[in-house]
Amino acid sequence: MSESECLSVYDAIRLRRDVRAEFTGEVVDDSTLLRILEAAHRAPSVGNSMPWDFVMVRNPDTLGRFADHVAEKRREFQESLPDDRAETFNPIKIEGIVESGTGIVVTHSQSRGGTHVLGRATVPETGIYSTILAIQNLWLAATAEGVGVGWVSFYDTPFLTELLDLPADVRPVAWLCVGPVREFQTVPDLERFGWRNRRPLDAAIHWERFGSPELAPE
Ligand SMILES: Cc1cc2nc3c(=O)[nH]c(=O)nc-3n(C[C@H](O)[C@H](O)[C@H](O)COP(=O)(O)O)c2cc1C
Repeated sequence: MSESECLSVYDAIRLRRDVRAEFTGEVVDDSTLLRILEAAHRAPSVGNSMPWDFVMVRNPDTLGRFADHVAEKRREFQESLPDDRAETFNPIKIEGIVESGTGIVVTHSQSRGGTHVLGRATVPETGIYSTILAIQNLWLAATAEGVGVGWVSFYDTPFLTELLDLPADVRPVAWLCVGPVREFQTVPDLERFGWRNRRPLDAAIHWERFGSPELAPE
């Protein structure tokens, strides 16, 4: 896709979806993948620490082992639900690990940047916030390229740490299923399947103090 054909950032934000079922089965080509990773790597970060790394996973054996683990975690979650929620959850697909063909595991290192990271002294979580901003950049850039991303968090951290040989100070933050898609759904899956609806913007905006609608401008 040429730069002039790219979506505006507002279009990409509007179109972006968590993708599970719409992967075509083709593997995203490496030049597109690199552009997406470059967008991720341009994210802001506390103290310019850039505490993220990206582990590309395409080995079918690794994809299969992770998918089996996620299936087990899905089962455990389903069993923890009351009957009516279990029924609603049942048809919801929560990953496209094998079909997407590429897993990008985004990791976070809290030791990156040394001990005096500018801006992190008072709010240690700013480190992980930075890594999550890289994920959002990645997600929007992928959308602009017509590439789907599905975030999988149904895993035990020690399992994924061992699967990928992550060093002691590096923790996985997300497994992202990444691949070309047939289409982007217009409504989030969880809404389509009756699990949970989006909140209206009005409910999320507060003026001056939390929960003071009387202070909103006329
Ligand atoms: C931190 C995080 C973890 C998520 N984990 C999962 C997951 O394990 N499986 C899944 O199907 N979707 C997962 N999602 C996707 C959300 O369900 C999805 O973003 C939300 O329902 C809104 O839909 P949309 O992204 O299509 O707008 C995750 C999203 C985030 C931000």
